[in-house]
Parts: sequence; C-alpha cells; structure tokens
Amino acid sequence: MSQPAILDILPDHVDGNRDMMIFGHFLEHFHRQIYGGVYEPGSHLADENGFRRDVIEALRKIKTPIIRWPGGCFVSAYPWKKGVGQRVPYYDKAWRVEEPNSFGTDEFLRFCREVGAAPFICTNAGTGSAEDMADWVEYCNLEIGEWAARRRANGHDQPFNVRYWSIGNENYGAWEMGAKTADEWARLVLEAAKMMKRVDHRIELAIASIPDLDWNAKVLRAAGDLLDWISIHGYWSRASDEGVFEKGYDNLIARAFEPEERIVAVKHILGSLGYLGKLRIAFDEWNLRGWCHPNFMSFGPADHALMDANDINSNYNMADAVFTACFLNSCLRHCDVVGMANFSPAVNTVGAIFTHADGIVLRPTYHVFDLFANHSYGEVLHSALATPSFDVKSDDGTSTSVRHLDAVATRDSAGGVMGITLVNLHGREGISCRIRGLGGSGFDSAILRTVNGESAESYNNIDRPDAVAISERRLTIDDMNDFSVDCPAHSVSLLNLV
Ligand code: AHR
Repeated sequence: MSQPAILDILPDHVDGNRDMMIFGHFLEHFHRQIYGGVYEPGSHLADENGFRRDVIEALRKIKTPIIRWPGGCFVSAYPWKKGVGQRVPYYDKAWRVEEPNSFGTDEFLRFCREVGAAPFICTNAGTGSAEDMADWVEYCNLEIGEWAARRRANGHDQPFNVRYWSIGNENYGAWEMGAKTADEWARLVLEAAKMMKRVDHRIELAIASIPDLDWNAKVLRAAGDLLDWISIHGYWSRASDEGVFEKGYDNLIARAFEPEERIVAVKHILGSLGYLGKLRIAFDEWNLRGWCHPNFMSFGPADHALMDANDINSNYNMADAVFTACFLNSCLRHCDVVGMANFSPAVNTVGAIFTHADGIVLRPTYHVFDLFANHSYGEVLHSALATPSFDVKSDDGTSTSVRHLDAVATRDSAGGVMGITLVNLHGREGISCRIRGLGGSGFDSAILRTVNGESAESYNNIDRPDAVAISERRLTIDDMNDFSVDCPAHSVSLLNLV
C-alpha cells in the first residue's frame, strides 16, 4: 500500500451540473455492430422487430441516454434516402462490404425508443449535400413536405422529433470520403446548418471538428452562431495491422488523462473564439481502443477476417475499465463544457457489450458505465485531491508520471445522496483514500461498489462472464468528517453516502 490519497470535499460548493448524455454510446454499420449486434431478425433472442432483447435490456440497465448513428466513416457515403421504404443492398465504400440496408432510419429510431435513448443522427457530409441533410430532418421531424409524406407512407404518422443532429464525421481527415479543407468545411457547415435549422429550428446541431485553432476559427466564424455542439473523437491505442491488441497495462494506463488534455485544448479554443458557454463539446466517439480495420488508412485491401480480432474478449480487461472511468471523471470535471460523449461503439467491435448466438458478455467497461450511470449524481462538487503518483516506463524508454488515484464527488440536487468515484490506476498496489469535509452533512450509511477482477488482465468471456464484476459492501463510518476507503489495485469504485 502506498501513501494514502486525500480527497477534501466542499459539499456546499457545486462546480457544475453533469449532463447524463456523457454516458452515451455510438453505433456504426461496421462488422457486427448492427447486423448480428443490435439487430438480428431470426435470432431466438430477437423481438418482433428484429432487435436483440438482451442488448436492449443491457443498454437500458446502464440508462443509455443517447445513441449516435449510423457512422463513423460509414456515414460519409451513406445514402439515407435509400435506407427508408423499399430497400436494396448496396456496396459500402467505407468498409468495403455489402450493406444489407435492412436497418435504416426507421429501425434506428424504433431501437432508440426501445432502449429509452435519444437518437443522435450523424449526417453524410462527405458525398451528401446540405439539401440531403435538411431532407433527413424533414423526414424525421416535419408534418409537411415530400419527405414527411414518405415517413407517413412508411407507417410513421407522427414525426419522430429527433433533437440531436451532427453535420458530418471526421471530414477533416484524408481517410474520410468527401474529405474537406477548412474553407470547404466552413462553407458546407454554414449551408447545411442554415437549411437544417430552417426545416426545424428546435434541433441541436453538432459539427465534426478537431482540436485545432485555425480549423475552428474558419468554421466557427462562418457558422458558429448556428451551432450548438462541437464534436471531437479520440482513441488511444491502435491494434496492429495483424489484429493484435496492445496488452501492457502500465503503457495503456499512462494515457488515461490524455482525453482530458484534449477537452482542455478544445475548451481553450472555444474560449479564444468567443464560444465558451455557447457551444458544448460532444466527445462523440471515444474509446481506449481503436477498432481493428487493417489497411483502412492506407487504402490497401480490406481484410475482413482480421476484423474478427475485435471480437476477442480477452482484448478488453481492467485497463479498459480504469481508462473508461478516468475518461468519465474527466467529463465530470469539465461538465461546464462537455455535455455529451459516445462510447465507441455500444455493441461488439471494441464496445462494452459482446453478442453471441445465445446471449451477451458484459465487458469490464460495461460495469463502469453501470456504476457511473446508476450511482453518480448530477451535481459535481468542488473537491481537491492530493494523490501520490507512480512512474510508467514505455517501451521507448520515456517515463510518464501517472496519478495513483483519481476521484470526483457528485451529489443529487436534493442533497440526499452522494456518489464519489474512486479510481485506482496502479496495476499492482492498492491505495487508501482519506475523505474529509463531510461532517455535518447528515449521511449515516455508506455503500461501496467496486468493479475489479483478480488481475489487471482479467476479462469476461462466454465461459467466464463474471471474472470482472461489481462487488458491493456496506461500510461502517464512525467519523464522516475524516474516514478512509481502501481501493484495491486496478479498480473502479463508487462510494454512495446516504
Ligand atoms: O475506427 C472507427 C472509425 O474511427 C470510425 O468509423 C471513424 O469515425 C473513426 O475514425
């Protein structure tokens, strides 16, 4: 056990209010995310609409607030108009497979309804036009017009009223179909935002962006006043082109606060351009692990067999859980500007839920969402954390100092319950956290829930679904003003005080 960490909480000082949408997820037409993931007509686990009941139940349990769809790179040549009404399979130029096209807008919106999540539609700003994007809003949200009539003809009399929309996906990147320069992007964003909001002024609009001042200066000066969100993405570990996922816990965990640096960079960009407090960040694709899709960036032949490496559950262990918890803590700390985040993806690939013919496996990251979504609360309290740190040596000899513990205190607005997240990043050593400042706050019982496995490499699989799970115990606390909680190595805990 190293030196204890100390968390001083000021229970009467609220730093900000968390938006539940930071616990959102993403779904792309990629590998087994849609077909064989959320949608599997004919499966004995599917409902009458073809949706996997076990997946819906799992997403409901973690209160999935919002789901982004349909891509990702897939969307940048997605012909949404061919994905409603009569369907014909077509060739998907992103992932170079035949897209069955049986899951389109109507199916996505019905799926969201069953999950209880808000839909977040990402439009095609690669090969699609501003008018296509506006027509999509019309199809979903209007009572009048050709596309609204088509929706009704497809069996949906009432508008779906989709509130969250995004213009494009990673259109700044050479890998993206219909990639744009900053000037081209500024022009398209202005035209698309204008037309989409003329169709429905109630929508909230995000745009694909990067943490780059010059890029954002051009785009926001052209169209910033029509926007509500700025989208950024991040993956911190890439599988090799042979489909091998990075293993070393220490090396992975050394990147746990890089997402926070990205948030801070974008926050400063928004501030320097006068948009802080006007636009919020949607971190609408994120995961420790990038997806395995060899040759995608280099345009070599697509190797679909290698994509199956994404389905190996042993790739996802406590490093993923701890990284995920640190990411969510970072969103809580910056809740003034981060209003949405979408774990990429929800199901299969490197996601939190793995599906197979007879059920699902909940990967370690799933349990972190379970803890945060169900046991942390809306008000983020002011606190100061003093923690020891440890050094991680990378393969190239460089050393990174990593904080041993990460913690955020939250409370429900009525003041009746507190949820304190406690993340021990160390792969081998436990740490005790002294928590001070809660004397007089009236709490008299404590429950500690912890996600952990036997080792940092523990993972869940079909034959061992609970190797990483949530354990729960009551704590007896004599002095609320100063007490300690033990946090085992590589663990994510949530302490509830009532
Ligand atoms: O690796 C997955 C891809 O990552 C998504 O399609 C894209 O949006 C991101 O670059």
